[in-house]
Amino acid sequence: MDYLKARITRIEIPAREHVILRFTRVSNNFPFPSQGKAGMGSSGDRHIEGEPGQFVMVRGSWGTHPILPRAFSLVEVGKEGAILVRNVGEGTNLLASMKQGDELLVLGPLGRGFSLPSQTGGGVVLVAGGVGVAPLVFLAERLADRGVEQVFLYGARAGADLPFRDRIGGICDLTITTEDGSVGEKGLVTAPLERFLRSNLSASVFACGPVAMLEAVARVSARADARCQVALESPMACGMGVCKGCAILDAGGEYRYVCSDGPAFESVKIFGREP
Ligand SMILES: Cc1cc2nc3c(=O)[nH]c(=O)nc-3n(C[C@H](O)[C@H](O)[C@H](O)COP(=O)(O)OP(=O)(O)OC[C@H]3O[C@@H](n4cnc5c(N)ncnc54)[C@H](O)[C@@H]3O)c2cc1C
Ligand code: FES
Repeated sequence: MDYLKARITRIEIPAREHVILRFTRVSNNFPFPSQGKAGMGSSGDRHIEGEPGQFVMVRGSWGTHPILPRAFSLVEVGKEGAILVRNVGEGTNLLASMKQGDELLVLGPLGRGFSLPSQTGGGVVLVAGGVGVAPLVFLAERLADRGVEQVFLYGARAGADLPFRDRIGGICDLTITTEDGSVGEKGLVTAPLERFLRSNLSASVFACGPVAMLEAVARVSARADARCQVALESPMACGMGVCKGCAILDAGGEYRYVCSDGPAFESVKIFGREP
């Protein structure tokens, strides 16, 4: 894990209130101890590294306020890294107004990502809601590279809130649900998930999105006896297990730190067997 200075190389607006920021590494900013392969590269290696479900803490060089970086899932790694930013508040608004060539401070990759299935006999289904699409588009591309067939269920409030829709449709079987019915099926993303799990016993489910959606996905998966991993969000200050600000209670009443124990968890650990 490194704290590095990066430069924005490209900006895209994939949907209303969203931007994709692509960045390259300029230099290591602070000498955090490198964790070998998991790091963003030791000196001389200009690559951005990370696995689907891992995240980075990001801020611009905008002075002191807001002082804390914000957490974003990695969407792409390699010569360039990429994050999807949904403009919801002070920090994301500043990031969304940045320009090509501006500097970013990027800490990462952080946390534990999804554990990729070794056997995919029962089928693989990815379930995304809102900005939860960010780690899942990365996961879908990683699985597609490995030749894994997958179904992608993507829920949103409306058709204008679907970043990466075409990109996902290009690599796997995509079903969209919208709450207003403007695109795809009208309703919640759990409806096609229930259908999928009825005809695909022992499927692997990967989900990221609002907590109410994740709870529903965990419930549907538990009923179908499907293994389900969920990537959680929680307000974060440090992103690396120090401040304890991201603590949540798991199904057994133990504290888990989303930044260092997660963000990806087995859903039964968080929501129990009968959520
Ligand atoms: C592991 C992880 C991965 C994330 N990945 C992405 C991503 O890929 N794309 C993306 O757009 N956002 C992502 N987020 C959420 C993002 O970090 C928050 O939206 C951001 O911190 C808000 O900062 P702000 O200064 O704009 O908002 P603030 O002004 O701080 O808050 C605005 C609103 O957002 C809520 N909020 C603040 N922080 C969080 C948070 N961490 N989680 C949920 N709600 C929050 C506040 O309660 C408030 O309602 C992720 C969060 C985590 C923890
Ligand atoms: S964000 Fe500080 S411990 Fe998790």
